[in-house]
Amino acid sequence: MKIELPTPVSVEEMKIDVREIEGILSSPAMNMPVWPGAQVKLLDGRMLYIRAIQDSDIDPILGVMEKVMKVEKDFYDIVGVRVYGEVLALRRKRLKDPFTFVGLIDGEFLGFANGRAWDKDLAISLHTMTFSRRAKLGYPMYYAKTYYAMEMLKVQEWWSTFESYNGWRMAGLSMAQPTKPFPQMQHELGGAKIFYVNQDTWQGRLKEYCKQIIGDDLNFKVTDEVLKANEKFRVPETLEL
Ligand SMILES: CC(C)(COP(=O)(O)OP(=O)(O)OC[C@H]1O[C@@H](n2cnc3c(N)ncnc32)[C@H](O)[C@@H]1OP(=O)(O)O)[C@@H](O)C(=O)NCCC(=O)NCCS
Repeated sequence: MKIELPTPVSVEEMKIDVREIEGILSSPAMNMPVWPGAQVKLLDGRMLYIRAIQDSDIDPILGVMEKVMKVEKDFYDIVGVRVYGEVLALRRKRLKDPFTFVGLIDGEFLGFANGRAWDKDLAISLHTMTFSRRAKLGYPMYYAKTYYAMEMLKVQEWWSTFESYNGWRMAGLSMAQPTKPFPQMQHELGGAKIFYVNQDTWQGRLKEYCKQIIGDDLNFKVTDEVLKANEKFRVPETLEL
């Protein structure tokens, strides 16, 4: 927009270093606790290792998401395309205070979960995904990021929404999450309803319930054996969704 000047000026054009624009567009990062990594045994006996994403995981995960976004089933496509954007946003620094976890079994990338901190009192759940179906692998992935928000970030509230029936059944129905008034309040994912957990519901019963439904708790003392088995990150050769 160009407006006539109300005063004479010495220079009519200014050169801008785009680094200064970056300073305006991106906000300073919050001090986020480090996710130490955890192991949890699935109901089928396999050991899941949940660790924070590493920069070297980003390209292979984008490759998987390119395939997932074409799967027109159970909402994998919409979740895949959104996760692609969120993972790319880590590299491009276009997501405020994200936390992103990968779930590995023998190094194979079979689970994904992410969220972000809105501020010190509120965290937003973004997406959960599993590529090993009917193993109830989505539950520990969602539990891990909820645990991170409620126990490590220590936010007052955790806001989720659900794009798929399986997602809603896993965390909306089964975890009995109430909703915020709609349409007055909307989740950032497509303006859908906000389902929420607060410290009372989490401490009161949800934390315990998650352990029951998963059949194990997050074990932060990851054994050398599990670390070794998951040393090398690899993506699934085929996607059977
Ligand atoms: C939502 C999600 C993480 C839930 O995790 P999960 O419960 O471990 O996942 P699954 O999809 O393996 O299983 C959910 C249900 O799908 C159905 N299902 C999955 N694969 C099936 C198959 N091959 N045949 C028949 N039913 C199948 C079953 O009803 C199953 O429940 P059950 O195992 O109790 O019978 C997972 O479904 C997923 O990644 N979905 C796509 C992305 C998504 O929607 N994410 C959530 C966004 S809000």
